[in-house]
Amino acid sequence: MSLTSEIKRRRTFAVISHPDAGKTTLTEKLLLFGGAIHVAGAVKSNKIKKTATSDWMEIEKQRGISVATSVMGFDYEGKKINILDTPGHQDFAEDTFRTLTAVDSVIVVVDTAKGVEMQTRKLMEVCRMRKTPVIIFVNKMDRPGKHAFDLLEELEEELKIEVRPLSWPINMGPDFKGVYNLYEQNLSLFAPGSQVVTDKKDIDDVSSPEIDTLVGEDNAAQLREDIELIEGVYPEFDIEEYRKGNLAPVFFGSALNNFGVNELLDCFIDIAPCPGVSKAEEREVEATEEGFSGFVFKIHANMDPNHRNRLAFVKVCSGKFERNTNYKHIRLNKQLKFSSPTAFMAQKKSIVDEAFPGDIVGIPDSGNFKIGDTLTSGENIHFKGLPSFSPELFRYVENADPMKAKQLAKGVDQLMDEGVAQLFTNTFNNRKIIGTVGQLQFEVIQYRLLHEYSASCRFEPINLYKACWIKSDNKAELEDFKKRKAQYMAVDKEGRDVFLADSAFMLQMAQENFKNLEFFFTSEF
Ligand code: G4P
Repeated sequence: MSLTSEIKRRRTFAVISHPDAGKTTLTEKLLLFGGAIHVAGAVKSNKIKKTATSDWMEIEKQRGISVATSVMGFDYEGKKINILDTPGHQDFAEDTFRTLTAVDSVIVVVDTAKGVEMQTRKLMEVCRMRKTPVIIFVNKMDRPGKHAFDLLEELEEELKIEVRPLSWPINMGPDFKGVYNLYEQNLSLFAPGSQVVTDKKDIDDVSSPEIDTLVGEDNAAQLREDIELIEGVYPEFDIEEYRKGNLAPVFFGSALNNFGVNELLDCFIDIAPCPGVSKAEEREVEATEEGFSGFVFKIHANMDPNHRNRLAFVKVCSGKFERNTNYKHIRLNKQLKFSSPTAFMAQKKSIVDEAFPGDIVGIPDSGNFKIGDTLTSGENIHFKGLPSFSPELFRYVENADPMKAKQLAKGVDQLMDEGVAQLFTNTFNNRKIIGTVGQLQFEVIQYRLLHEYSASCRFEPINLYKACWIKSDNKAELEDFKKRKAQYMAVDKEGRDVFLADSAFMLQMAQENFKNLEFFFTSEF
């Protein structure tokens, strides 16, 4: 098959949601319909249960399982589907953000009763930023929920994207009868608890009296009224607008009951984009270019604590990736060859000889890779990742075992490369500060330093409101600021200046008093 045909048949995406909306259930059903698994319950995604917030051991156990489900590839109707799993726990939100840099589209799951929740909103911001095409699946229609029209309005307002229903629910909760598929013009009848594909009737005219017989006169009348309203209010579905990230088609269903999932999958493979353009700092890279290029969006460590082995996940952006071929590691300016790259098919990892744009390749790594690293056939380009966000929680990290200072330094260094947290060094007292987005990361760091690097650390409190990167064209003013705020100055791992504000007031004053200084709250500016 030619490179272009391989590209055209690839669909690489992530399912995202607020915890509990049904991401895991939907993912599993997609795999089931795609034929990648044969029984429900086979996917233990890297969902971290709510109860586990202080139980790091439990999370560790689940992480072990999650490697297998990090990427789930399967063939369906001639298409190669790659589902990238994202952690559900909000303390790992940065992991999810980074995974979103490697997908070509997403499916957002929303709970019909809860509507748009906090995590959905945040994830959607990243999708909007990157113009990622989005399909919305309104889940749990078997339960009482918000009125479908109200929900559409809420989706539009809260997710700041135009929506267009492509299926429409007939009643809801205990009276849920099914959905009318506006995309394919057919009616799917709901049978609660059914584990098989539901009854589907091709009815391309909603005025057909058959609908009255199937769902009852009242429901049929309501459906006709609703569809008339939809056709009147919403413009025709425009696939180009969807692919540009301006318009989100909406489906209704119940993942748990296998309802609406097949319709979603069929429409998805039809409309979702194949790999296209990836943005590098130097230029835009087309998937169809001959030269191979890709970037690391995730590093999964600790698969075998005895060997401290890691797996770097590389998204192929252009050309063909081949085993045992020299590629240039741009940051290290070094040629590297990979003898055992792995691909992920139907939850199994196996060594692959080649991979195409849209595919994810797992590369065993002993410390060469850092999140955001670019690999190419030779050209010097740097793919743009997602910026690191200013962390929310801070602690001093101190060595608890003087004999193991080296191990600690190495451990901290590598964990930061994996993107577990951010490290700042206070230039005034040389103390190291770790910044995270969630409390859990501190436990993760302490545990992993001990188990993987035999280093023990102690965290000490620090009164810090925000760490922000600063820059100025006015050298004198920058130096003046750094002198005056010497106690509050730090550098990040790349040596960039960071201001450690201990209160909102202090930050505000600094911004007001130093007009020529720019303050950045993400690391990419
Ligand atoms: P998440 O990955 O987004 O966190 O959600 P997950 O799929 O784990 O679903 C959260 C809960 O919602 C699960 O119940 C799941 O069974 C339920 N659920 C998912 N889809 C539907 C649906 O269409 N209808 C209904 N009624 N429930 C749904 P749980 O009790 O928390 O977990 P479990 O014990 O069933 O695994």
